[in-house]
Amino acid sequence: MCGIVGATAHNEVVNLIVDGLRTLEYRGYDSSGIAAQNTTETLIRKEAGNLSALQNSLTKNPLSGTCAIGHTRWATHGKPNRENAHPHISGNAVAVVHNGVIENSNELRQFLINRGYVFTSETDSETIPHMVDLYLNSGVGFFDACRKAIGHLEGSYAIAITFNSEPGKIIAARKGSPLIIAQGEKGYMVASDPIALREKNQIVYYLEDGDIAEVTAETCDFYDSEGKHVSRIGTRLANSKCTTSKNKFASFMQKEIFEQPDSVRATLSGRLVNSRTSNRLFDKGSCTILDKVDNIHIVACGTSLNAGQVAKYWLESIAKIPCQVEIASEYRYRDPVVPPNTLFLSISQSGETADTLAALRFANESPYLGTLGICNTDNSSLYRESEAVILTKAGIEVGVASTKALTTQLTALALLVLKFGELRNSSHVVLDSFADALSHLPEMLEDALKTEEQIKEIAQRISQHKSVLFLGRGHHYPVAIEGALKLKEISYIHAEAYAAGELKHGPLALVDRNMPVVVLCPKNDLLEKLSSNIEEVKARHGQVYLLADHKIDGQSNHEIKDVVEFECGDNLISPITFNVPLQLLAYHTAEYLGKNIDQPRNLAKSVTVE
Ligand code: G6P
Repeated sequence: MCGIVGATAHNEVVNLIVDGLRTLEYRGYDSSGIAAQNTTETLIRKEAGNLSALQNSLTKNPLSGTCAIGHTRWATHGKPNRENAHPHISGNAVAVVHNGVIENSNELRQFLINRGYVFTSETDSETIPHMVDLYLNSGVGFFDACRKAIGHLEGSYAIAITFNSEPGKIIAARKGSPLIIAQGEKGYMVASDPIALREKNQIVYYLEDGDIAEVTAETCDFYDSEGKHVSRIGTRLANSKCTTSKNKFASFMQKEIFEQPDSVRATLSGRLVNSRTSNRLFDKGSCTILDKVDNIHIVACGTSLNAGQVAKYWLESIAKIPCQVEIASEYRYRDPVVPPNTLFLSISQSGETADTLAALRFANESPYLGTLGICNTDNSSLYRESEAVILTKAGIEVGVASTKALTTQLTALALLVLKFGELRNSSHVVLDSFADALSHLPEMLEDALKTEEQIKEIAQRISQHKSVLFLGRGHHYPVAIEGALKLKEISYIHAEAYAAGELKHGPLALVDRNMPVVVLCPKNDLLEKLSSNIEEVKARHGQVYLLADHKIDGQSNHEIKDVVEFECGDNLISPITFNVPLQLLAYHTAEYLGKNIDQPRNLAKSVTVE
């Protein structure tokens, strides 16, 4: 989703901004722009489309300056065109880049039009520079004009603002959308994601909600929402081992699929000792939060929600804790009943998903026993606002379609279930086999990756269809949902997942000789039931593709188009390993169709608006 990079320094910063915007491309965007201050004026270049369009424009009409702000936009208000791209400017003097949504923009727009302002875009963001300009014209200084203008904004924002008459200064503010400030050797940078700063800056300050910062090449002053001067503690940005290069892979998604054994190994590391969870399970808070839990509410979005759905099966069957899983955008707008001793558990790769954060904020004000987060990003809003956190150790995930974040979330959830099992004296036999299976998970994932060549052939056939069904049962049903989500996200082929037992209640009407049906077929207690569902598909001449951990009889039957056999590990952890062939299927299908796999149309990596 939208990205911000700004810099003020003693040297030229335009290339630094372009480099920073390049690192934010993975978040998803549809246009980009830069405003740079030279000695007398602010000049803007912006273009629709990808960053190369902006770079071409900069080659034809170069920009220079020691203070500049840049943006990648993901359209919410107004089409993804040049006019709506940021930065937005007022009176050729005040330039603004904005992430988030200004909910009262219609009223502000009318208020400003009534005072003679002319809008050149359809965006909510353009209200901000005009509001600042209005206050500047009333005689207040730049910082106060920004503070007063920001006071009118409802909704969520991360903003960077520059003003010609105070060159070299950036006013940065945030509420609900992430923003950081980094101190480098030659000046300061402002960014919506630390990835834009990596290896260029040392100390990073995370703005708190409501903070406004006044940044120059030499200084950075912080003010809280009350306008009081405050100090914010900087942290040293660790150099990530996981670089943002694709190495030998064709795309980040493919690289990240193949990183899964290592990411899962890192997530397990030090947390499982002698078949039991260690005291290093939590990265924030402690497991005392789990002692009195009688119920769990899991809230998340997208792939993280699917991880939560698997955890529900584990929590109820292994730890015998009632668990409810809910879409964050639904949860936040209803009146959930919180039974006594309920733990709120949110799951998020980025820790910045607007709906998940809103749900967490609601939970922090509700009578929950505590709030626990499972997150891949330390120092994210979710990390800071949850009472306790288990970090997944996936490293940076660049592909919009989540892969290693999911399998590490499932690993962290499995460890949490094991901890609950230990606290509630669940059967030792079950806990031992769960722990044993988990300790072998990285090798199981390595085996699952060996299915790639066979999956490629299936993907070629799937790529010729307009619609695909996925079926699973028990804790493999959410995995089928995730398989369908992956396929539609990156190949744009319509895909639906059903609990196999639901087939005859509707989707069977779609099955004919042109319908591929991907069935997750592990050898477990539900296999007999699942076999009957497969027969139902075959009887309608549906094209069956089976993912299985055992020999399947009747391969000669021509409705069974293919069987991918692989070692998926113990039944308890196979909802993790089954994701691998499904990810490869989506990946290679999209590759056959020539899609932009890392940046699928209309989607964003981190959805910071609701
Ligand atoms: C977006 C991403 C998905 C992700 C979802 C939730 O839709 O494209 O891959 O699963 O957001 O994100 P989170 O960061 O909260 O896990």
